[in-house]
Amino acid sequence: MTGVGHYLPEKIVSNAEMAERVETSDDWITERTGIKQRHFAAPHETAAFMGAAAAREALAKAGVDALAVDAIILATSTPDQAFPATAVHVQAAIGAHKAFGFDLAAACSGFIFGLSVADAMIRAGQVSNVLVIGSEVYSRILNFEDRGTCVLFGDGAAAVLLQARDVAHSGPGLLSTHLHSDGRLAEMLYVDGAVGQPEKSGKLVMNGREVFRHAVTLLASAVNEALAANNITNKDIDWLVPHQANLRIIDGVGKKLGLPPERVVVTVDKHANTSAASIPLALYQAVSDGRILPGQLVLLEALGGGLTWGSALLRL
Ligand code: UT7
Repeated sequence: MTGVGHYLPEKIVSNAEMAERVETSDDWITERTGIKQRHFAAPHETAAFMGAAAAREALAKAGVDALAVDAIILATSTPDQAFPATAVHVQAAIGAHKAFGFDLAAACSGFIFGLSVADAMIRAGQVSNVLVIGSEVYSRILNFEDRGTCVLFGDGAAAVLLQARDVAHSGPGLLSTHLHSDGRLAEMLYVDGAVGQPEKSGKLVMNGREVFRHAVTLLASAVNEALAANNITNKDIDWLVPHQANLRIIDGVGKKLGLPPERVVVTVDKHANTSAASIPLALYQAVSDGRILPGQLVLLEALGGGLTWGSALLRL
């Protein structure tokens, strides 16, 4: 992983401003979720626009020209269009004319699923330089009459560049990914209709309590899977970079892992839940401010609509 980039919409919306739209309060949102603010996109800030900005920064950080990119995998639940894929709009915008691009739909787990696909393609020798992007504009699919969901999400994008390298097992790179989904739990968190069912609302629906109940257990098991597969223990982990949905879930998984809060990256207070963008945004933050250093072992985990969930272990 040689470069990380990000984009956040200019407009920041505080909890107090949300309380002007729905019957809620800063106290309730802070206490139940840890969220203090979120970014909401302007009309021109689409998933493609934000994804392209994040991709440009990731390439610049890696010092790699866009023409060297072989593939663009863009995880999103809020694409600009049903087709073409948002990834091809990013391709055109950044000038990655030699690449191929496609979108990946795994809701909040999309970035980890994208890493896994990119890693497999690199190991197969099919590609060398892959952009994995999470880009989301959930403000477009929120039901602003449902206070139980509309206060929880925000917009943003982040991207990483993965490059093929011949490295020893203990060297930098993606060490493992573990992916899961259970479609029997689809009713717990979904978008009501949209392109295939235009008569429906197209808005996000969630049974928050049930998702919460599943989250800590499933995330802890995905994290343990990563530890077992790599023959390591919690003591070997330098950083946990979790999906940023709710501080109580993040704390719960951190505790189960036995990691002190200083080794868990939290951005949910500033970004709220940005779905597929949340992990790379948190990674961006902690790499940029010098917390995550080269050589350190970083564990990622996510859970979202599907349900989908998974983990990834990487050495920076
Ligand atoms: O990224 C995808 C994964 N998604 C998640 O991980 C979300 C998981 N779920 C959660 O984070 C939490 O379940 C929520 C934050 C969504 C809700 O927290 P909770 O502690 O489970 O609250 P609740 O749903 O049990 O609601 C408690 C009370 C209810 O009132 P009554 O019935 O007890 O009188 C709600 O009506 O809080 C009320 N409530 C609110 N009050 C003020 C719900 N939303 C709000 C609100 N402001 N925004």
